[in-house]
Amino acid sequence: MNVFIGITGASGAPYARRLVQALLAGGHTVGACFSSAAPQVTGQELYGDLRMPREEVIERWLADTGLPAEQLYDSHDFGSPYASGSALWQAAVIVPCSMDTLATIASGAGNNLLHRAASVALKEDRKLVLVPRETPLSTIHLENLLRVRRAGAHVLPAMPAFYQLPETIDDMIDFVVAKVLNLLGLDQTLIGQWDAGMARAELPVAD
Ligand SMILES: Cc1cc2nc3c(=O)[nH]c(=O)nc-3n(C[C@H](O)[C@H](O)[C@H](O)COP(=O)(O)O)c2cc1C
Repeated sequence: MNVFIGITGASGAPYARRLVQALLAGGHTVGACFSSAAPQVTGQELYGDLRMPREEVIERWLADTGLPAEQLYDSHDFGSPYASGSALWQAAVIVPCSMDTLATIASGAGNNLLHRAASVALKEDRKLVLVPRETPLSTIHLENLLRVRRAGAHVLPAMPAFYQLPETIDDMIDFVVAKVLNLLGLDQTLIGQWDAGMARAELPVAD
């Protein structure tokens, strides 16, 4: 599968990194793009430095993910295949998806490659997965989420669950990434299949 990964300046950079790693490990083609705000948040969340220069964030991120540099597109590269419905890519994931990018996609407007790829996915009936992150949500956010869902996008909020007893932050990241892979119709081994019977046996019984 050929998948576009758009990374915005919402909190959740670890999800994007893990998803790219998982897709590449599965032999898929990935084209990625940072919004102009994303490197700052990625610098903070992955490398602990909100002020890390953009070039350094990107260099470290490419090394971490293993994505070839030519597969990372500038946010204004409208010549990229992901800006066109004529190019045969199959899916777009915006992870994490900020409320700004959500609003732009919901409005049908756009001024960067992330917006364009999302718009192409919707018009071409290709899979579009949005992983929004904000809390609390305003009425405007909620209306925008409903609007994109009605237009055909899948809305997969960055909401890790606890029923699988995560022990590390990586477990919680994997939970969300596994959900994205499931929605893309891809096999995943990041988390086990949920088996309520098994869980009952393993969970401590309350007195
Ligand atoms: C550390 C940090 C965390 C942020 N977290 C969020 C968030 O969770 N959700 C959100 O919508 N915006 C968040 N923002 C604000 C966005 O980065 C900002 O609205 C930006 O304009 C989004 O633009 P983009 O959608 O083009 O990336 C955060 C900003 C910073 C610096």
